[in-house]
Amino acid sequence: MTPTLRYEAGVLFLLDQTRLPTAIEVLECRDVEAVFEAIRRLSVRGAPAIGCAAAYGVCVAARRAERSAANIAEAAHAACERLAQSRPTAVNLFWALDQLRTVLDSHQIADSTLVEELEAVARQIEEDDRAMCRAIGQNGAPLLPRGGGVLTHCNAGALATAGDGTALAVLFAAHEAGRNIHVFADETRPLLQGARLTVWECQQRGVPVTLLCDNAAGWAMQCGKVAAVVTGADRIAANGDVANKIGTYGVAALAAAHDIPFYVAAPSSTFDLSLANGAAIPIEERAASEVTHGFGRQTAPDETAVWNPAFDVTPAHLIAGLITERGVVPQPSTETIAEHLGTAAVAP
Ligand code: MRU
Repeated sequence: MTPTLRYEAGVLFLLDQTRLPTAIEVLECRDVEAVFEAIRRLSVRGAPAIGCAAAYGVCVAARRAERSAANIAEAAHAACERLAQSRPTAVNLFWALDQLRTVLDSHQIADSTLVEELEAVARQIEEDDRAMCRAIGQNGAPLLPRGGGVLTHCNAGALATAGDGTALAVLFAAHEAGRNIHVFADETRPLLQGARLTVWECQQRGVPVTLLCDNAAGWAMQCGKVAAVVTGADRIAANGDVANKIGTYGVAALAAAHDIPFYVAAPSSTFDLSLANGAAIPIEERAASEVTHGFGRQTAPDETAVWNPAFDVTPAHLIAGLITERGVVPQPSTETIAEHLGTAAVAP
């Protein structure tokens, strides 16, 4: 299978997710601008994958500077600045760039080893992400009902990470453990990550999946089709409030109304303990054309006013448990999260 991302000798290869599921195309990013554009236009997307791509984006810039005898550290710093502007919500992007900045700040040796050091850190971020996905799957699978429907929103699978995903890793692990689950995938307006990517991934892995319009989630719950919900996250505040794809909050509220457990699966790199709660999470707003001209067809009158937030925040009280690579935090709170991550609780 074509990997979501692959870095080799100063080039970042990305499976172009804007072309899925009908075409498998690989983008070759040979400068930082190409990586920036790929993140901005969602050719690579999903919080952990954005972090990995950004880390390699800095390596692409460093290798290019090396070839042109430019100042490598300067080019790498500029790449960090540029990539930090690509998307605002997924904290994994800033978390990954901070790790590369640490290498740059502590650098006192010849430039040729700087590039190798940056590459080593980027590769470590990718490897760690793969391991975290595996552990998240193992930790989350036992929470799922046997023989029940499990709803997910957007795509938090292999396409969104360096490994098997977060929410989808839980579903894949449950499937492999013979829990006999059936996945319900919200289509996820306006860019259809659920329809285009989650359904595709489930089909590739042989996991039974049914696609739903976003609007059908509540009715599916009322009809008894959904026994649990699992989504991913783009940023989790210290108190457990979760930013994820627009529509996640609605699904969580519906799950609460139907007494269905709502779980969020994410690696520790998705926590932002500098934010006491979700109110300060920056929410990306994207172009009106994604809503009015989705996939090449005009679906609203000319000059329609549009509000297109790409994410929303689900309050912690709606979340039955956070599934991380370390285990599960039931009923997340500032105290239980701090304890889980082994950090001091952030003062509200
Ligand atoms: O806009 P996207 O496609 O990058 O949004 C992705 C999501 O909302 C995912 O659920 C989240 O990043 C978790 S991915 C493991």
